[in-house]
Amino acid sequence: MKEKLQQIKSAALLELQSPECDTEALRVRYLGKKGELTAVLRGMGALSPEERPIVGQMANEVRAEIEAALTAKVAELKEKALADQLCREKLDVTMPAAPIRMGHQHPLTRAQREMEEIFIGMGFEIAEGPEVEYDYYNFQALNIPENHPARDTQDTFYITDNILLRSQTSPVQVRVMEQKKPPIRVISPGRVYRSDALDATHSPLFHQMEGLVVDKGITMSDLKGTLETFARKMFGEETKIRFRPHHFPFTEPSAEVDVSCFVCGGKGCRVCKGEGWIEILGAGMVHPFVLSNCGIDPEVYSGFAFGMGLERVTMTRYGIDDIRLFYENDERFLKQF
Ligand code: PHE
Repeated sequence: MKEKLQQIKSAALLELQSPECDTEALRVRYLGKKGELTAVLRGMGALSPEERPIVGQMANEVRAEIEAALTAKVAELKEKALADQLCREKLDVTMPAAPIRMGHQHPLTRAQREMEEIFIGMGFEIAEGPEVEYDYYNFQALNIPENHPARDTQDTFYITDNILLRSQTSPVQVRVMEQKKPPIRVISPGRVYRSDALDATHSPLFHQMEGLVVDKGITMSDLKGTLETFARKMFGEETKIRFRPHHFPFTEPSAEVDVSCFVCGGKGCRVCKGEGWIEILGAGMVHPFVLSNCGIDPEVYSGFAFGMGLERVTMTRYGIDDIRLFYENDERFLKQF
């Protein structure tokens, strides 16, 4: 039996010297419940009482030796594996990182923010209104009753007979005047909808920025001064503005406003299509009916309002010739801003 134990020990230790030694399999084979050493211990019943403790002690020593050698081997293998791995995975911490591509604001958002800054600088606040709007706010309160021809040019999408997607930001004028007493000085940027087919200059969804000022003694010259200041800041100090008579049901008098072409300075070029002027907005003095509809006395207060197309201003500003480019999200376009 002692010989058997010696054999087991030398066999195990020999195997452990092999570089490809599978340490776990070896542990099971020699020390496991069904291992060779256990088998020897089981057979100890056959020994004489004198021999039993001697063999027992020897078996324990053999077990301890094999275990120690195994532990050492496992540690050695681990170390070697780590060294190999470190050798394989060289890490150059000075190597430049793969660049993270940063996006940026959409040109429309950028133009909107720029416009907001300009008006905030003139003391305006930003007001918001819903895109799903009542017929009352979008039309009736703005002096556009049912069957008024102005509804044709602003045909939009209806949710029900009296709920629609707003065709202009002007309903925010009414919402603001209902809630605030003068002095009022707000702009209201946002999405608007019209049932237009998509082409280079039309889109069923686009953006406007409304402006409204109501106080005692507001006149058309305040409107002109405000828009001129805006145009100079937005398109350059040399910019001039021009008022052309027009009609809007909710302003009286009304005007369409052009800015001098910022490319040719008014001589006429490709951008202004030879006109020297580019139309950017509609404006006028708030109609007395509209003031009354909102509970503001037109005998005491007066005001002006304007509404401009954000796409129009942005296209003019950056020389973009197709409105669809704003909505296609083609990086080749967006990257240029
Ligand atoms: N809401 C008008 C439009 O969409 C523009 C406008 C706004 C005109 C305010 C006058 C005053 O055409």
